[in-house]
Amino acid sequence: MDKLIITGGQPLRGEVRISGAKNAALPILAATLLADGPVTISNIPHLRDVTTTMELLGRMGVELVVDERMRIKVNSASIRKFFAPYELVKTMRASILVLGPLLARYGRAVVSLPGGCAIGSRPVDLHIQGLAKMGADIRVEGGYIHARAKRLRGARLFLDTVTVTGTENLMMAATLADGTTVIENAAREPEVVDLAQCLVAMGARLTGAGTDVIEIEGVASLSGAQYEVLPDRIESATYLVAAAITGGCVRVKCTRPSLLEAVLEKLIEAGAVLDIGDDWIELDMRGQRPHAVAVCTSPFPAFPTDMQAQFTALNATAEGVGIITETVFENRFMHVDELRRMGADITVKGNTAIINGIEKLTAAPVMATDLRASASLVLAGLVAEGDTVVDRIYHIDRGYQCIEEKLRQLGARIQRIPG
Ligand code: UD1
Repeated sequence: MDKLIITGGQPLRGEVRISGAKNAALPILAATLLADGPVTISNIPHLRDVTTTMELLGRMGVELVVDERMRIKVNSASIRKFFAPYELVKTMRASILVLGPLLARYGRAVVSLPGGCAIGSRPVDLHIQGLAKMGADIRVEGGYIHARAKRLRGARLFLDTVTVTGTENLMMAATLADGTTVIENAAREPEVVDLAQCLVAMGARLTGAGTDVIEIEGVASLSGAQYEVLPDRIESATYLVAAAITGGCVRVKCTRPSLLEAVLEKLIEAGAVLDIGDDWIELDMRGQRPHAVAVCTSPFPAFPTDMQAQFTALNATAEGVGIITETVFENRFMHVDELRRMGADITVKGNTAIINGIEKLTAAPVMATDLRASASLVLAGLVAEGDTVVDRIYHIDRGYQCIEEKLRQLGARIQRIPG
């Protein structure tokens, strides 16, 4: 298993180009199953989760071609199987996103239940209930969701909890249903909007994406299209925290500042000076140690749970006491024990972490437990005294394209050790 070795103490400086958003690329790849013709997607990030999705589609018989400009052309006409096996779904929960499209377009799907994961139980009951309300016949047997429908019917769906992939699955299913579907308490995440725009480019009739009520009027078929994935706001924010934690000055390029308001607000509170352009953000810490901040995660547009671990690391070396409250996932503090091994002073009570900032973390061997937790360990390693070894970095490769190259370009001392 590959490891990262980071020698801390170098303030990061320079520019970094942000890749396409993982959480938009995955549903958009799943949405290609709905189209009658080929769909060409650009700005797809080079990540393990994208490779897993391509493998999932490939095993179904879908044809995928990557061209010289790294665009992926997907043609689902050759599909033979409507099946998502456990061995792939267990490595990437987002595989559940094929359920809605398969059912809507082909009337059947067998998809493994994702099961638990490091950050909580993460059920998919709302995906299943919504599809059942649209007329699908669904049973769960042997760890698999078996779903069938002649043609899905439009329905009024109220989601008890705001769910991102749940909203996306139901939105995709509704595009080919008979009649109108209204999704209430829908997720407003920018990646939901990006998927909606791609579906509209394919001929879907859909309004309200980006609000909590999405209305979809089903059509008989969708066509091929070309679509460019939006920039990754979590990757952008992670590099900004890397600049802040090291007291450096970094410009993130090819990003979308308007999607990052809640995070930028907290970085300003931490003492960062920001300069913002159309598609770039520059963060300058002017060599200062960050101030501790209070953060409470919630669905968009509030502070994203996917940035919680990174801000825990920031608070660990900040001046003062920081408080982090996690309201989206029940068990998302796995990084805390690892940060403690580097000397961090953190107390967890229920869904709140109280972090007493210390001046210097010390390097230690640590283990990545999930995608964003691993990012927080890399950030901590950038400021710790000595050589931090981060093990199990396959988690980080799921969501950060070429992280060590991008950080090295900013002056970090970081190496990948193949294992
Ligand atoms: C997506 C993101 C992930 C992010 C998360 C929250 C993708 C591929 N992943 O995950 O990076 O951390 O949103 O912003 O886009 N829930 C239910 N029943 C359901 C579905 C969800 O109770 O049927 C609960 C979950 O347990 C969780 C909450 O809803 O507590 C939000 O989860 P959800 O938005 O569904 O997360 P994902 O879509 O899996």
